[in-house]
Amino acid sequence: MIRSPRGVEDILPSQVSQYQWIEKEASSLFSLYGYEEVRTPIFERAELFLRSLGEETDAGKQMYIFQDKKGRRLALRPEATAPVVRAYLQHNLYGKTREWRVYYLGSMFRYERPQAGRYREFRQIGIEAIGEGSPYLDVEIIEMAHQFFKRVGLDKVELQLNSIGCRKCRPFYEEKLKEYLKKNMDRLCPTCQRRYQYNVLRVLDCKNENCQLVIREAPWIGEYLCEDCSSHFQSVKEGLKALGIKFQINPHLVRGLDYYTRTIFEIISPVLGAQNAICSGGRYDDLIEELGGPSVPAMGFAMGVERVLLALREEKKGIPYKRLPLIYIATLGREGWRAGYELANLLRLKEIRVQLNTSKRKLSSQLSFAAKRGIRWVMILGEEEVKKRRVILRDMNSGTQKELEWEKLEENIEEIKS
Ligand code: HAM
Repeated sequence: MIRSPRGVEDILPSQVSQYQWIEKEASSLFSLYGYEEVRTPIFERAELFLRSLGEETDAGKQMYIFQDKKGRRLALRPEATAPVVRAYLQHNLYGKTREWRVYYLGSMFRYERPQAGRYREFRQIGIEAIGEGSPYLDVEIIEMAHQFFKRVGLDKVELQLNSIGCRKCRPFYEEKLKEYLKKNMDRLCPTCQRRYQYNVLRVLDCKNENCQLVIREAPWIGEYLCEDCSSHFQSVKEGLKALGIKFQINPHLVRGLDYYTRTIFEIISPVLGAQNAICSGGRYDDLIEELGGPSVPAMGFAMGVERVLLALREEKKGIPYKRLPLIYIATLGREGWRAGYELANLLRLKEIRVQLNTSKRKLSSQLSFAAKRGIRWVMILGEEEVKKRRVILRDMNSGTQKELEWEKLEENIEEIKS
């Protein structure tokens, strides 16, 4: 048997309805805030991600890169911020409106070590707001993520916040951090010794116990922010407080992607294990320029749909369940099937989900099929019923049944629906 590759999974029908529910909640919420959906390609030129995420970052290294038949280097998208920015530039939206607010839903691909909550194909729902540099936008974006979790009923989430400054002040902090880490190099894990070279901020994110001890004493970026970054961060904190949104400042919060500036945040679900970030984002005020565009500030976030569903399950929150057929129509003989076909169409016109028997099996085996599928109502149409223009309606829960006239079905349908 050929199995699916490691780290990618089928989403079976009973789960699809959960994804659809999350997607519906997100898109209706985001459109209330003025965001429109955008769909970018599943693969892009690899260079787009190598330049934006950073070749040496985890996300940069975890890319699925391949060559097409003409030898072009392409990559399955590991995230969607860079593609959204590319689309913004490619379609000259800067010239048209400058501001662009979009959301997206879809699969992302990263060659990670799979574990609970970490996959090689996973789905993100995210938003990007391009064109506004004011801290009011940061507050609104974080509030929108907060609203989303309220909407789907995840109560236990925690918001962590930090500012990582800008290209003016961050290099100075990085120097200070490097100075400190250099003195403690032998206590750092091999990964952090490499991070020291190419992305020193990522050392702050290490979970290794020894590194944690070193990090605890490390200088804080908050003390090195320039005046502009500092007052921006202050406004974000005040704005969130004014809206009653609780947050924790985590001075060691950094992000795995290179493009961030100023405000960054993560929403954590404490009911999950190691992979507990269900939503992450921040400002990326330099990315558009770095990708060849004008200097335009921007901010966004993305949440991992699988992790949101895991958290809901852990919190034992009801997730709307499968969209099973409401009625199964069991038929006997050719006339029974023809009448069943007519009846099914009638019910489907009334938006009722119906599965019609398409087999030549006996009635008992059709009934046991409906029971196994968990369908509550069965309509039975044998030759006798067809002649009398009647149908037997069986309630599979109680095992009771009654005969109905076709002409009077409408009254009973309302009862079944409710
Ligand atoms: P990210 O932190 O790399 O940020 O991913 C966002 C979210 O995707 C994470 O918080 C997590 O819930 C989920 N996620 C990431 N990797 C995996 C995985 N291997 N398996 C399952 N879920 C995963 C970004 O992608 C940025 N583009 C977010 C952003 C938008 N920043 C600004 N705008």
